[in-house]
Amino acid sequence: MDDDKNRVQEIVKRITDLPTLPAVMMQVLSMMQDPSTTANDLGKAIISDQALATNILKVVNSAYYGFPRKINTITQSILILGFDTIKNIILTTSIFDVFSDKEEKGRFDRERFWEHSIACGVATKIIAERMGFVMQEESFLSGLLHDIGKVVLDEFLPDDFNKILKKVEEENILIIDAERSVLGVTHAEIGSWIAEEWNIPHSFSHTIAYHHNPLLAKEDTIIVSIVHVSDILCSAIGAGSGGNQKVPRINTEAWLKLKLNMSAIESILKKFDEEMEKASVFIELSKSK
Ligand SMILES: [Fe+2]
Ligand SMILES: [Fe+2]
Repeated sequence: MDDDKNRVQEIVKRITDLPTLPAVMMQVLSMMQDPSTTANDLGKAIISDQALATNILKVVNSAYYGFPRKINTITQSILILGFDTIKNIILTTSIFDVFSDKEEKGRFDRERFWEHSIACGVATKIIAERMGFVMQEESFLSGLLHDIGKVVLDEFLPDDFNKILKKVEEENILIIDAERSVLGVTHAEIGSWIAEEWNIPHSFSHTIAYHHNPLLAKEDTIIVSIVHVSDILCSAIGAGSGGNQKVPRINTEAWLKLKLNMSAIESILKKFDEEMEKASVFIELSKSK
């Protein structure tokens, strides 16, 4: 384990210009820790970043939330949706802000990557909802973030990542195995490290770290299993692409944990198409800059 950590640190040292979350995001996260923060204080902090405020209103007024009336201000959004939801919306729009529309450097198809990530978020949310899991907002975000390490590799170590993708094509292996052989670390480790650096809630970095090995997770085991299954489900139905050429195998124990039978899968897939339509605002955000 220590060896793995050292290897991650070594790789991370090569990522010279570490991606950071927008300053407002950091400020908002810390304001939310303070119980005396009001919707008004938070609204003021958010509108100091006009682009962020515009994107929040776009998401809040999208079909994803489907409110019958238009929500016109950030303060109104906070009052209607609550602090936690707004926090997750800010985190979502910040992720797109940090990584969207960067120049493509090689073989990695960012557009299909975001489609895969959003699809995984949608599937995770649907399954979580079915299982009576309360934090649906966080479920979407857990799915959305699961492969964030890949985009970090593509952005900061493009030559190595190209080598990895070439290996995937030529040797018909999974990205995670190619990463191990080229770098000695995987996108799961890199992604979870970034999430820790960003100081976002620990359950996200945990889900990112274990989405390929759900049984190794010691906490948040259900959400880790849901993201694991959703990821593979999205690969199987070809919703976007995380860069793999073949579909990884589902871990049986993680699958059994979700207690889904065939008819449940059918209804999940049906709901998936509807929810993907509603989530088109995120596809839009992933392309905008
Ligand atoms: Fe992955
Ligand atoms: Fe994935």
